[in-house]
Amino acid sequence: MISREIQLASRLTGMPTADNFSLVQREVGPPHDQQVLVRNLFISVDPYMRGRMNEEKSYAPPFALHQALEGGAVGEVIESRDMEFNVGDLVTSNFGWREYFIASPKELHPVSRENQPPSVYLGALGMTGMTAWAGLQLGEVKAGDVVYISGAAGAVGNVAGQLAKLRGCRVIGSAGSMAKVAFLRGECKFDVAFDYKIGPVIEQLKLEAPDGIDVYFDNVGGDALEAALSALRVGGRIVACGGISGYNAEKPKPGPTNLFNVITKRLTMKGLLVRDWLEQQSEFELEMGDYLRTGKVKNKETVVVGIDHAVSAFLGLFPGTNIGKMVVKVA
Ligand SMILES: NC(=O)c1ccc[n+]([C@@H]2O[C@H](COP(=O)([O-])OP(=O)(O)OC[C@H]3O[C@@H](n4cnc5c(N)ncnc54)[C@H](OP(=O)(O)O)[C@@H]3O)[C@@H](O)[C@H]2O)c1
Repeated sequence: MISREIQLASRLTGMPTADNFSLVQREVGPPHDQQVLVRNLFISVDPYMRGRMNEEKSYAPPFALHQALEGGAVGEVIESRDMEFNVGDLVTSNFGWREYFIASPKELHPVSRENQPPSVYLGALGMTGMTAWAGLQLGEVKAGDVVYISGAAGAVGNVAGQLAKLRGCRVIGSAGSMAKVAFLRGECKFDVAFDYKIGPVIEQLKLEAPDGIDVYFDNVGGDALEAALSALRVGGRIVACGGISGYNAEKPKPGPTNLFNVITKRLTMKGLLVRDWLEQQSEFELEMGDYLRTGKVKNKETVVVGIDHAVSAFLGLFPGTNIGKMVVKVA
C-alpha cells in the first residue's frame, strides 16, 4: 500500500514556510502478527509542533529530519492481526501527518464511533479539550471568578471559555478578528470578547474588567501576559499554557516589564503540560462526552481537506486562519 506523508525537510528558524516540508510517498505494510493497519481520517496540526521543528529540545524531542512528522490523528482499522482490534474500529494515535500506518495495539487508543465527527477526538474530546479542562483545574477556577483567556477562539481557548462559563465564571476572551469575537460571544457564550489587533490589550482588558480579573489562562504570552499581570487582583492565578506570540521569534523576547506584580499582588503562576494529566483522561472523557452529547459544550473546528494541504493548515495557525481546532481531513 502506498501512503503519502509529510516530512520535515529542514530545520526552522523564524516563521516556517512550505519549503521546510516535503510530501513523500512510502510503501506501508502488510501488518505482521500483533500489528494493525490503520487509515487516518483526520490529523491534527498544533502550535506545539513548531517547537519540535527546532534543533533544540523543547518539552518533547525535536522531530527527525526526512521522516514522517508525528502528531495526533484519528483513523480506522482496515486490517488487523491482533485480537484487540477489529476492522472498522476507530482509534486515536500519535501517527499523524500520514495517510496509513502500521502500529502495535499499545500505540493505539480505541474510541467510540458514537461521537461525531471523529475529529472531535482531536478537539474538544481530545488533547486540546483536555488541556482546557486541566488548565481550569490547575488554576483552581471556581464560580464567581473573572477569567481572561487569550487565544480564546482557538482549540484550547474556546473550550476553556465554555467550561469556565459552565463553572459559573465571568469569561473574557481576546482573539485576532471580529469574526472570532462574534464566535466567542455568540456560539461560546463568553461574556465579553475583544479583538487584540485593534488596540492595546491592556486598554481593552481594563475597559472590560475595570475591577480586575481573578484568573488568566495564557495561550499566547507577550502583550496579553503583560496586560493580565496588570489586571489581576490580589491572589490572582495565571495558568501558563502556551506562548504562541513567541514561537517564531528568532531571538528570545524580553519578558514582561511588570513581573513585579507577582510580588505586590501575591500572584501564582503555574505551568501546564497536558501530558501530566493522562491519568485523568477517562474522567475528562466522561465529563466532556456528556457536555458534548447534551450540547453544553460545542466542538468548533476548521477543516482543511487533503494531506497535501496539511502544511498550509499548520502554517495557518500563526496568522490565525482557524476558528476552533485546526484539523486536516485525510480520507
Ligand atoms: N501546555 C500544554 O500542554 C498545551 C497543550 C496544547 C496547546 N498548548 C498551547 O496552547 C496555545 C493554544 O493552542 P491551540 O492548539 O488551541 O491553538 P489555536 O489557538 O487553535 O491556534 C493558534 C492561534 O493562536 C493565535 N495566534 C497566533 N499568533 C499569535 C500572536 N502573535 N498573538 C496572539 N495570538 C496568536 C491565532 O489566533 P488569533 O487569530 O486570535 O491570533 C491562532 O488561531 C498554544 O500556545 C499551544 O502551544 C499547550
